[in-house]
Amino acid sequence: MDAVRIYGGKCLQGQTTIQGSKNASLPILAATLLINGTCEIENCPDISDVYHMLRLLKSLGCAVKREGTLVRVNTEKLSECDMPSDSVGVMRSSIMLLGALLARTGNVCMEYPGGCVIGSRPINLHIQALRKMGVTIEENETEFCAETVRLKGAVVSLPFVSVGVTENVILAAVLAEGETVIRPAAREPEIQALCEFLQCAGAQIEGIGTDCLVIRGVEGLHPVRYRVPADRIVAGTYLCACMCAGGQIFLRDAPVSHMESILSYAIEMGASVVREKDGILVIGRERQPVCHVLKTGCYPEFPTDMQSPFMAVMAASGQSARIVETVFENRFRIVPALCKMGAEITVHGNTAFVDGSSKLHGAIVQAEELRGGAALVIAALAAEGTSIVTNRHYIDRGYEDIVLSLRELGADAELA
Ligand code: UD1
Repeated sequence: MDAVRIYGGKCLQGQTTIQGSKNASLPILAATLLINGTCEIENCPDISDVYHMLRLLKSLGCAVKREGTLVRVNTEKLSECDMPSDSVGVMRSSIMLLGALLARTGNVCMEYPGGCVIGSRPINLHIQALRKMGVTIEENETEFCAETVRLKGAVVSLPFVSVGVTENVILAAVLAEGETVIRPAAREPEIQALCEFLQCAGAQIEGIGTDCLVIRGVEGLHPVRYRVPADRIVAGTYLCACMCAGGQIFLRDAPVSHMESILSYAIEMGASVVREKDGILVIGRERQPVCHVLKTGCYPEFPTDMQSPFMAVMAASGQSARIVETVFENRFRIVPALCKMGAEITVHGNTAFVDGSSKLHGAIVQAEELRGGAALVIAALAAEGTSIVTNRHYIDRGYEDIVLSLRELGADAELA
């Protein structure tokens, strides 16, 4: 049962509620380590990456309890323990624990983090930034050990924007001695959520939502209850599903204000989008697409995580277009699978050329990473015949139940 079977060719009609954001909940869960007591995180998605983060927190001595979408983390009995290497290795966000644990215990040994295979994903900038903050780090081939007597504020100048490094430095800085400046800081809504969570807990952070964050270390933080915002990438994925299949859907709780670039490309690709108070109404395939080039970038530009779902839309759209990927060097891994479904796509360096004149047909294809896997499922909605997408576990890293959500939206999909 590690696959999704999709019977293509059916227009969508229905509504679904968008889950809490994966990329916001993971650093916020790591941030609970900075707070002595119980934090309550609402709207925490029930996805495998969150499961692994909670497992890591438990292995460090935290008491963790989930009731529906509410997760309680009590860190009072935090102890230094080995983290289970299968959880550290499975996701990139285990690196978040580095900044938070250094702030709380001053001492961390861990294996290198894993995550989707979408480029080399080094951690050199994390290490450089933390060294500037007074951390000694020794590395070998499989693991690294970091140690500090007291984290110190520093000016962290980065060669380019990194979401993970910005988050790690924030986590290290909120309890550090003195002031930390991060420049350029990532401006993603998930960073804003992390900062808001920490501010509620008593942290002093200025410049939230800008490319320069200034953090003044405080003596301690207090427990809080915080609601994780909805997941803009999950909302964008179902928006793409409707663009592939056609029809009309309502995405309840979609975080419209964080989806500007996604929505404007969707409109260029022929969709109609009505912004409502509690979500967005999407009409897929309303007009002929006029989008010829899609380029990824850091927020507020078009998110790299939406690139594969939009590639699926292009392959199904009847209009040729080009995608330029500027964030990760290996993010066209779904191309062979889409081509197996009848798409015509060629890749030259960081640019993919999609010939939209081809017709998609059903096939058995394999998910190789999270967003690419979801993109194959939605491409299959537009394909003639039946498709099976195997390796569903990659998709489960970020989507609570993609089959259930698509069925709510009227798709003919089932577990296989
Ligand atoms: C986060 C998101 C991921 C998203 C990405 C870009 C989470 C859990 N994941 O990943 O969904 O696709 O932002 O929006 O929030 N880099 C280095 N050295 C480092 C760190 C990063 O060279 O030490 C490079 C990466 O290889 C990449 C670029 O920086 O080319 C951007 O990566 P980064 O923003 O750090 O992505 P993640 O935090 O891993």
